[in-house]
Amino acid sequence: MLYNRKRRLKLDEAERQQMRAAGQFNARLMDEVRAMIKPGVTTNDIDRLISTYTQDHGHRCATLGYAGQHGPYPKSCCTSINDVICHGIPSDYALREGDIVNVDMTSIVDGWHGDSSETFLIEPVSDLARKVTQCSFDCLWAAIDAIKPGSRVSEIGEAICRNARKNTFSVVQEYVGHGVGRQFHQPPTIPHDPTSSPEARRQRLEPGVCFTIEPMINTGTRDTLLSKRDGWTVRTKDGGLSAQFEHTILMTENGPEPLTVPPNGPQRGHKF
Ligand code: MF3
Ligand code: CO
Ligand code: CO
Repeated sequence: MLYNRKRRLKLDEAERQQMRAAGQFNARLMDEVRAMIKPGVTTNDIDRLISTYTQDHGHRCATLGYAGQHGPYPKSCCTSINDVICHGIPSDYALREGDIVNVDMTSIVDGWHGDSSETFLIEPVSDLARKVTQCSFDCLWAAIDAIKPGSRVSEIGEAICRNARKNTFSVVQEYVGHGVGRQFHQPPTIPHDPTSSPEARRQRLEPGVCFTIEPMINTGTRDTLLSKRDGWTVRTKDGGLSAQFEHTILMTENGPEPLTVPPNGPQRGHKF
């Protein structure tokens, strides 16, 4: 496809500004989500806020109607709780003390996609829940700090795996980061464990390339189970906890520029 040709993945200055705007919109929305998270709030409540806020600003949610193997995704965000790794579908489930919930959402702003996620702790939480959440956050920032213009894509996953191993946690392989721009998901593929990805060792992060890093870190096995019931929800095979953070990142001539850091949210070095 024409828009997948390698040179088209490098954005010029005007296109970079569009991605900055999309990223910032998504980040501000994450601040709104964080402000409403507390016990008793349902994941449908979260979904409704995201849908309403996005529409009120004249934008669109990329996940709504997104085509999957089992049909279109039905909601405006993903809410993944405890042993759910990703793609949890908002429902009437009310958040409870001790839960960890990842909210992953993608805004389309003037045709450009901003994609990010954050894991929220419904305090008080177990030491293990806090530790796996901290680990996934640290993995994301370790990866951002590990790359520079011209780095190999595989350096992202190598930094993530080093960090996860220190905590004896595992890194999900089946779901990956991705190029992002006019399309929600486009090349390059960004593995969080690059062990079996020769492509990631070949491809380089040149200035102008925009992509996500979104490590899913498990307390137990890395193995995943896709729900037969809804065709979307992905759980840990052993029922262990899973946490995730995601940023959209623009590689510039001066290094990586994270586009989705929320003004009121956790910044590099945050301790949960
Ligand atoms: N937001 C996810 C990502 O980070 C993708 C969700 S696709 C959906 O790439 F259809 F499950 F919503
Ligand atoms: Co996302
Ligand atoms: Co993504």
